[in-house]
Amino acid sequence: MSNLLLVEDEARMREVIKMLLSDMELNIFEACDGEEAINTFTSETIHLVITDLKLPKIGGMEVLKHIKNAKPEVPVIVITAFGSIDNAVEAIHEGAFDYVTKPFTENKLRSTIKKAQQISRLTSEVKYLRREIEGKYTFNNIVGDSYEICEILRLAGEVSHRDTTVLITGESGTGKELLSRATHLNSPRCKRPFLPVNCAAIPSALLEAELFGHEKGAFTGAHQQKKGKFELASGGTLFLDEIGDMELDVQSKFLRVLESKTFERLGGNKTIKADVRIITATNKDLEKMVMEKTFREDLYYRINVFPIRIPPLRERRDDIPLLSQHFIAEFSNAFGRRPPTMTEKVMDMLYNHPWKGNIRELRNVLERAMILTKGDKITAQHVILHESQGRPLAELNLTQVVELLMRDHRIGLEDLEKTYIQYAMEVASNNVSRAARLLGLSRATLRYRLDKM
Ligand SMILES: Nc1ncnc2c1ncn2[C@@H]1O[C@H](COP(=O)(O)OP(=O)(O)OP(=O)(O)O)[C@@H](O)[C@H]1O
Ligand SMILES: [Mg+2]
Repeated sequence: MSNLLLVEDEARMREVIKMLLSDMELNIFEACDGEEAINTFTSETIHLVITDLKLPKIGGMEVLKHIKNAKPEVPVIVITAFGSIDNAVEAIHEGAFDYVTKPFTENKLRSTIKKAQQISRLTSEVKYLRREIEGKYTFNNIVGDSYEICEILRLAGEVSHRDTTVLITGESGTGKELLSRATHLNSPRCKRPFLPVNCAAIPSALLEAELFGHEKGAFTGAHQQKKGKFELASGGTLFLDEIGDMELDVQSKFLRVLESKTFERLGGNKTIKADVRIITATNKDLEKMVMEKTFREDLYYRINVFPIRIPPLRERRDDIPLLSQHFIAEFSNAFGRRPPTMTEKVMDMLYNHPWKGNIRELRNVLERAMILTKGDKITAQHVILHESQGRPLAELNLTQVVELLMRDHRIGLEDLEKTYIQYAMEVASNNVSRAARLLGLSRATLRYRLDKM
């Protein structure tokens, strides 16, 4: 339903127009002079305006100028008296969408409104798309084109302009810190500091001092006054990473700061205003922790204002090709060489790997592959997917190794045999008898297989 503002001083004329438009799914607001028109336009969300040019108090041309100034995308149709074409031309000049001359036919009025509605819909669509593109552009260090990542970027784009507290959840290595930085960089606070605090890495006793600072002599060892992160990040963003690891006593203090937006340094009594935007992140299940009473429920609701969940890489495999290219380009640049290509098999391996370490693991795997690759092609032998079982290779038994080679590396029997033999020959310094012994074969059998290779 569109909201239409009808500006016309003659009550009878307003009734006629309303009747003509009664079946057009329009929510009609009426104004009988220019002043009322501007007031209604300001207080309501108006999508379309029809205004007479001759109005008491403030004229129609002024109303038109006001609207074009305030919201240029709202189409304005002007009604002019028969024979006053000059006025119509002037109105078009001022940005009116179209004009109808009195007396008008039902058809003319309705078709003009329909056209205006269409244009208005297209304009807002373009605006929306443009915002999306711009949003994506400024988040351009976050790579990915899966549905999931696009949705995350849309959410982050929307919330970045505000001071809203954001809670980012996701497994390790999914890009929580990256997203948090990007959100800060897209916010009005971007010129002020972004300060990360890792709540898991700092013991509880020190975390408090780290966050709120301390006065000289606040505790043994506090030889001088020190500002906390809340103070240092003033005007900017404080990123509390691993918030799920914050101990309960610090949680209470943190909650108090969130509620009062003020704090005191440890051992001090001066109340300081906290002007920070808070972004928190965790890979823990906070809801479960609330149930287990290891995370304060009230704090949970305070920080969970705008949650963004980053799914693990295995749930958005469509991002793998683009991310891989991105990292290969990054390392090629760092190593000062031309980016190698990946074979189909490598792409398959990367696509199917479980990626328990998520994007960080993918990045590491590709860095190793880039070091091992000498030519212009990354092949399966350069790609080492150790972590697939979450355990080092040495701890696996033979069946598990075979499983790994088959599932993750897609290594066929022939390749396996060839690599095995080549390795034995290398270890035996190309002495066939010694290599045969290593492989548990007779010299003749190995000779035969070597010839075949
Ligand atoms: N969408 C992405 N595009 C490009 N690089 C990414 C993306 N997501 C993550 N990365 C990279 O992956 C690595 C891990 O990301 P980050 O440190 O943000 O993860 P995290 O979720 O904070 O992990 P942890 O929970 O272990 O702290 C970083 O090198 C980051 O730049
Ligand atoms: Mg992190």
